[in-house]
Amino acid sequence: MLKQETIQIIKATVPVLEVHGVEITKTFYKNMFQAHPELLNIFNHTNQEQGRQQTALANTVYAAAVHIENLEAILPAVMLIAHKHRSLGILPEHYPIVGENLLKAIKEVLGDAATDDIIGAWAEAYGVIADIFIQVEEELYQKTENNGGWRLFKPLKVAKKVVESDLVTSIYFVNEDGSPLPTYEPGQYISIRVKVPGEEYLMNRQYTLSQASAEDGYRISVKRESDHTPNGKVSNYIHDHLQVGDLVDVSAPAGLFVLEETDAPITFVSGGIGVTPLNSMLQSLNDNAVNEVNFIQCARNEKVVAFSDDIQEKVNVLPNASYTALYSDEDKLITKELLAEKVADNADVYVCGPVGFMEAVIKNLQEIGVKDEKIHYEFFGPAMQLAK
Ligand code: HEM
Repeated sequence: MLKQETIQIIKATVPVLEVHGVEITKTFYKNMFQAHPELLNIFNHTNQEQGRQQTALANTVYAAAVHIENLEAILPAVMLIAHKHRSLGILPEHYPIVGENLLKAIKEVLGDAATDDIIGAWAEAYGVIADIFIQVEEELYQKTENNGGWRLFKPLKVAKKVVESDLVTSIYFVNEDGSPLPTYEPGQYISIRVKVPGEEYLMNRQYTLSQASAEDGYRISVKRESDHTPNGKVSNYIHDHLQVGDLVDVSAPAGLFVLEETDAPITFVSGGIGVTPLNSMLQSLNDNAVNEVNFIQCARNEKVVAFSDDIQEKVNVLPNASYTALYSDEDKLITKELLAEKVADNADVYVCGPVGFMEAVIKNLQEIGVKDEKIHYEFFGPAMQLAK
């Protein structure tokens, strides 16, 4: 347990650190990658360039430090991050490196204001927080192995490449020896680690598994992105270079944005490529599921929409289901009225899409009276909202 004195110092200095947050995290990453360039094989460089991940890690350390007496309060956030870390192969030996460089950055930015007492208090607090992450992540590694999965990455073979729309292509991964891959929960994701030609370091990306657990392997469905977006380089590599028969390093399925078992009505609301986890959830429902199911899919137009045939087919089979496709090029946008019509009383609503889309949909859902605990969502990319 931390000493009361330490806790007081932490609480008094969090606001100071937050004021200098961006500078501290910039300094932190710069120093850390200089001392440990091998970590560039793990971190998403594009997120770094765009400053997206820059504040998430440090802010979470601050948030955890504020709750240091009651870490239970941040456990849900810890679990989400731990899934991401497990999926990326983060190990106990990485924590002291992050800790050392974070403290050094605090010292560098705050200068004389960072007294030995302050640095000592933060070192202690970081140690406590890191131990929790290490323990939770070890439990996840073990759970994954017990479910037939594997630690870290393993090469899987590209068995099929299927063009789904003008923008989206699916890749099917199988075990090299043909043995079945472990099952997963609909909504979970995998990390892939690739060497993109011309890039010095390996690149990791998370992709949602886009079908229900199936015998033909793990399917991801990748949108072609512009080279300048966080997923651009890997997405273009997958579209243009990856071939059937290639081996790709893949981590076992992870993630907590999954379909919860229920007899209540379910509404799925997808925007763009956010359809991948929601299609996986829909397809995993029993064909005779009693739930009222409504699927609203938003996309730019018919050429770029993915899985609309699969969704329609499943909806036709389910006893009580509807499918609404809205194309923005035809000025058909999601409205509060449509949501009111398609979200039954007591329904669980699953939302996935670009951040602006999700924020708007969630706000509309709240306005029509859907309770927060019935709204399930996951933002793509770094979970910045957690760190706030
Ligand atoms: C992602 C927090 C330690 C590597 C994240 C995220 C948070 C976070 C909030 C964003 C989650 C998301 O994207 O959904 C923390 C905290 C740590 C810690 C509080 C210490 C107590 C580490 C360590 C490593 C690491 C030791 C490895 C050296 C990563 C990577 C990502 C990530 C690679 C993915 C995002 C990216 O590539 O930019 N972490 N982390 N983290 N973390 Fe950590």
